[in-house]
Amino acid sequence: MALITIKNLGVTLGAPLFSQLDLAISPGDRIGIVAANGRGKSTLLKCIAGTLDATAGDISRSRGLRIGYVEQTVPPGLSEIPFHDALGHALPDEQAETEAWRIDVALDSLDVPPALRQLPIGRLSGGWQRLALLARVFVTDPDALLLDEPTNHLDLEKILRLETWLASLPREMPVLIASHDRAFLDATTNRTLFLRAEQSRMFSLPYSLARKALDEIDASEERRYQKDMKTAQQLRRQAAKLNNIGINSGSDLLTVKTKQIRQRAERLEDAARPAFQERSSGAIRLAHRGTHAKVLITLDNTTVETPQGGLLFRTGKQWICQGDRIVLLGRNGAGKSQLVNLIRTAIAEPEKSAAAIKATPSLALGYSDQTLAQLAENETPLATIIRRFEVGDQRARSLLAGAGFGIELQARPVGVLSGGQKSRLAMLVLRLTNPNFYLLDEPTNHLDIEGQEALESELTAQQTSCLLVSHDRSFVRAVGNRFWLIENRRLLEVDDPEAFFSSASER
Ligand SMILES: Nc1ncnc2c1ncn2[C@@H]1O[C@H](COP(=O)(O)OP(=O)(O)OP(=O)(O)O)[C@@H](O)[C@H]1O
Ligand SMILES: [Mg+2]
Repeated sequence: MALITIKNLGVTLGAPLFSQLDLAISPGDRIGIVAANGRGKSTLLKCIAGTLDATAGDISRSRGLRIGYVEQTVPPGLSEIPFHDALGHALPDEQAETEAWRIDVALDSLDVPPALRQLPIGRLSGGWQRLALLARVFVTDPDALLLDEPTNHLDLEKILRLETWLASLPREMPVLIASHDRAFLDATTNRTLFLRAEQSRMFSLPYSLARKALDEIDASEERRYQKDMKTAQQLRRQAAKLNNIGINSGSDLLTVKTKQIRQRAERLEDAARPAFQERSSGAIRLAHRGTHAKVLITLDNTTVETPQGGLLFRTGKQWICQGDRIVLLGRNGAGKSQLVNLIRTAIAEPEKSAAAIKATPSLALGYSDQTLAQLAENETPLATIIRRFEVGDQRARSLLAGAGFGIELQARPVGVLSGGQKSRLAMLVLRLTNPNFYLLDEPTNHLDIEGQEALESELTAQQTSCLLVSHDRSFVRAVGNRFWLIENRRLLEVDDPEAFFSSASER
C-alpha cells in the first residue's frame, strides 16, 4: 500500500516546472529524483513535505505519517545554535525531555566526534553542516525521508558513511533523494524519477540502468516521430496528386478520397510528438587572462592552523606554477579549506596576511567560496552583474541569457534561485573577473551533470592555473594535473589521487 500518493501534480513558478505527475511512494522505495538545474526537484520535495502548495493536483499521505525533510541549504537562524542543541530544538516540545536520548543515538549513528557536538552549526565544515541537518530530521523519528542533494559539501569518506547509514535504515522506510551524484544514486536507490515539464518518467531501476532505459525510450519515440512525420508527408504528396487528377477528371470520388487522405495526414501530424529534448541550463564558460610570471605562488613552509590556533600541518616549500591544476586532497578537517583561506587572504588582502605565502604581483584571483557567500541573496542576478562589472545593461542581459538566465530569472532575487542556478551565477561572476589563477572550494556542488562536465572542460581546455578542493572523484580525475595530499601534519606531492580515494573507502 502506498504511503504517499501523488496524483496529477503540477507546479508553475514563472514557467511550468512539472505537470500531470503521478507517483505512488510505497514502503521499501528508495527513489532518485533526477533533472537538470532549476527544473523543480527541490520544489517537488517541498510539495511532498507539505511546505509548498502545488499549482495543480493532489498529494495524499497515509494517516499519521511523519515525513523528515532535509533541505538543500542550511535554513537561516540555525548557524548560531550548537550542533547538539539544534537536534534538541528539532524535537517537539512534549518530547524534548522524554525523548532526549534520540539526540545521542543520532549523533552516534553518524559518528559525530564529541568535540564537534558543542560547536555552533555555522562553525562546522560544510560537510558536517549537511550531516547536522540530517541528524536534526532523524531525531524526529520519521517514517519517510526526503533528502535534497545530500552529498553536496560531503567529502568522500562522509559520502560513503552516508551510503552505509542509508543502507542501515529500516528497509521499509521510503527515501526520496534529489541528487546529481551518479555513483551515490546507484548505491542508494532502487527507483528513478526523471522529472520533466511534460511527461516525467519513472523506472524501477537505480540511476545508471534507468538512464539507459530512458535513453532507449527517448530514441524509440524519436524514431516513431520521424516515421509518422514521413508517412504524413507521403500522404500529403499522394493527396496532392489525387487532387490534380480529380480536378482534371471532375471525379467527385477522387475529391472525397483526397480529403480523407489529407485528414489522415493531419491526424498523424497532430498526434506526433517530438521526443524529449534536454534543454541546457545554460553555458558555463571561464575566462583566462595571461601572465608572464612562471611561478604564481610560493609557499614558504607555511603553517596552517585551526581557527583556535592548533597546528594542522606545515606545507614545506611549494611552488604553484602557470598551468598547474592542483587538487588538494586530505581527510575531513585536515585543513584544506584553511589553506585555501590563507592563500586567498595572501592574494586578496596581502596587508592582512601573516602567512609565509608570496603571490606574484600580476596575479588576478578568481575565487569561489563553498557557500557562495559572494552572492547577495536579496540582489537580482542582473544587479549582481551590473554592480560588480563595467558592462552595460544590454551586455549584462546577454551574458546572463547565455548562462541560462532568461529575462524572468534575471529579475528574481538570488535567494529564490535553485542551488544550481546560484552556482551558475557564481561561475559567470568568476568568468567576468577575468582571472589568471582560480581558487575553487567544492565548485561542483549543486551543478548538474552537464554543468560539471562543462566546468571540467573549461578548466582543462583553457590551460588555466588553479588550486581546488573537490570531493567529486570523476571531477578530480578529469581536472587535476598535480595532487597535494595533507597527511600526518605534512603536505605531500603525490602522483595521482587513487591511493587516497581507496583509503577513504576503507575507513
Ligand atoms: N519562491 C520562488 N519564487 C520564484 N521562483 C522560484 C521560487 N523558488 C524556486 N523558484 C524557481 O523554480 C525553479 C525550480 O527550482 P528548484 O529549486 O525546484 O530547482 P531544482 O531542480 O531543485 O534545481 P537544482 O538542481 O539547481 O537544485 C527555478 O527556476 C527557481 O528559480
Ligand atoms: Mg534543488
